[in-house]
Amino acid sequence: MLAQCRYIPVKRLTMVLTLATLISAFGSSFQYGYNVAVVNSPALYMKAFYNATYLERYNKPIEENFLTLLWSLSVSMYPLGGFFGSLMVAPLVNKLGRKGTLLFNNIFSIVPAVMMGVSEIAKSYEIIIVARFIVGICAGLSSNVVPMYLGEISPKNLRGAIGIVPQLFITIGILSAQVLGIRNILGNSTGWTLMLGLTAVPAAVELLLLPFFPESPRYLLIQRGDEKTARKGLQRLRGWEDVDEELSEMRVEDQSERAEGRLSVLALLSKRSLRWQLISIVVMNMGQQLSGVNAIYYYADSIYATAGVKPNDIQYVTVGTGAVNVFMTIAAVFIVEATGRRLLMLSGFGICCAACVLLTVALNFQDSVTWMPYISISCVIIYVIGHAIGPSPIPYVVTTEMFRQSARPAAFMVAGSVHWLSNFTVGLVFPFLEVSLGSFSFIIFSCICLVTLVYIWVVVPETKNQTFLEISQVFAKRNGVEIKLVEGELPLTQTKDGGLRSEEFKATAL
Ligand SMILES: *[C@@H]1O[C@H](CO)[C@@H](O)[C@H](O)[C@H]1NC(C)=O
Repeated sequence: MLAQCRYIPVKRLTMVLTLATLISAFGSSFQYGYNVAVVNSPALYMKAFYNATYLERYNKPIEENFLTLLWSLSVSMYPLGGFFGSLMVAPLVNKLGRKGTLLFNNIFSIVPAVMMGVSEIAKSYEIIIVARFIVGICAGLSSNVVPMYLGEISPKNLRGAIGIVPQLFITIGILSAQVLGIRNILGNSTGWTLMLGLTAVPAAVELLLLPFFPESPRYLLIQRGDEKTARKGLQRLRGWEDVDEELSEMRVEDQSERAEGRLSVLALLSKRSLRWQLISIVVMNMGQQLSGVNAIYYYADSIYATAGVKPNDIQYVTVGTGAVNVFMTIAAVFIVEATGRRLLMLSGFGICCAACVLLTVALNFQDSVTWMPYISISCVIIYVIGHAIGPSPIPYVVTTEMFRQSARPAAFMVAGSVHWLSNFTVGLVFPFLEVSLGSFSFIIFSCICLVTLVYIWVVVPETKNQTFLEISQVFAKRNGVEIKLVEGELPLTQTKDGGLRSEEFKATAL
């Protein structure tokens, strides 16, 4: 015991590790959040530009429906791009490396940034729509690659803390777009092209600075077989010379992962013993997105306008919501680790459901009661809080806990696809819902929250401090399979999953 203590040095946060974390999170995750919220504030001016462009081209004013379609495409091409981006992750990270992919990914940011910047001069809204798709690819890639890169360069004892940095930067990106979107800053008829183009700044910073930092040592060692560079990188990251132990740990880990094998997505879909676990992560990811959280970020201003907030005050309310989101993301980390997943998810969806119902009521009475707009704003903020404590972060955590290492990549592939496609659906459909149903569109969101809540109540067990085996036993009856306990399996899974639980934690608010 004593000898062990002497040989395990305390892995500290070195300057190289800190800077690599901050630069990649700013260059990639920040951008991701920024582009989620960037179209919200200038919506009015961008629509006016679409209208004017159309008028000039065809000599007649644009039809209301066609404008709504163009607009919802401009918004929703982003998550659709995200879907394709997340499909490109596996081949790119293996070919170019983790850092390499992050650097390469900036093509998908700088090119569309220039396109969006010149769209007004080029008099083309098509350019914006295509650019949103490309910048979505960037987001889909970075939402997966940043956590991977950071997970692989940080020592085990810091992985949990460093793992939340990307999520934090996403929310800061959202907040920054909301701040820049204030009318007096860039959210006006002349500033919006610059505002859209600014996404190139974090990309440029990353391109200039990240090359000076090490590639993931694990990638270099295992996939490239380049021990020399891996050792050098690890020495810089750890701030000391003796990294033999960690390098051999990586090899052992890799071997045990290889021994366990790797399940393909197709194999996962047809595996009976994992069926209800799979359905559960699909339902939770759909619930997370279809409950309307991104509708709030994409269309916050128009929601507040409907809620009767004075036009000039809307921007500040929007910024306030973003700030609450940043704060709750930090708080969520502590809450998630302290309470059970199930309770948080149930209460999160419950709060969101209630907030949507109350919002609908408030929107309907706002003309007769003067203080109703305040109730509406409170509802939105309560909704954001409710989403941040449960529906946002937990599906990711539960996906990690329900699947063994061998099935995890496939499970994340499925979860990620469901996530982006649902996000795309909300972005595309919400403007039409808003036009046709008005304030009642939130009833749909509350129903989705309720359905997801009931599903979780009935099907999803508590996964905190449970081993993979215990979880699969809970599901065994539903899956119609018998679980045989293999000797020696339990303790192995326990340590492995226990470690992974906090390491791979990432709150996905988007
Ligand atoms: C488009 O612009 C014209 C004139 O500027 C305006 O009358 C019309 O209402 C606008 N159309 C839409 C759908 O906003």
